[in-house]
Amino acid sequence: MISWEQLESTCQQCQRCALAETRTNCVFGVGNREAKLMFVGEAPGEQEDLQGIPFVGAAGKLLTDLLTSVGISRDEVYIANILKCRPPKNRDPLPEEEDACIDYLRAQTALIRPAMLVCLGRVAAKRIIDKDYQIMKQHGQWIERGGLAMTATLHPSALLRNPNNRPMTYLDFVDIAKRLRNL
Ligand code: URA
Repeated sequence: MISWEQLESTCQQCQRCALAETRTNCVFGVGNREAKLMFVGEAPGEQEDLQGIPFVGAAGKLLTDLLTSVGISRDEVYIANILKCRPPKNRDPLPEEEDACIDYLRAQTALIRPAMLVCLGRVAAKRIIDKDYQIMKQHGQWIERGGLAMTATLHPSALLRNPNNRPMTYLDFVDIAKRLRNL
């Protein structure tokens, strides 16, 4: 199996899709490489592209607050995205960009071997759980695949746009924390 060092340096030099031309930084992933719980978002935004770290902008602050509110620290989990490079103007990832990038996430997941994986938002849920995933209907439901328990919840950016959905998302996080502590 590839080492973390090989994987990260390959990713940092990646030219597999056109986003390599517009990125400031490749945003590989951050957190505990022995985490039992892994979060997967969509793609870096402006702050993430500038700093090279996932979820450090406004959506990231909300993610940190949600984690803190249920007693999970960022240091305890691993956080990555479907895309490692920022799409211009934060547009949705293109299928060919996801295809070009997904092996990095697969390799990260294989190295970490988490017990639980949480998709943040529609893009990650459709790519990882089911191409027809309906986030508003299915969020908070768990499925098990090859010993990995998976769910999705709303993306923190969506909560910034629509704060009415915060209470139900908080309940998803309460459940995530409960399951983590019961592992
Ligand atoms: N949104 C994401 O999906 N990922 C980030 O890293 C930041 C914002």
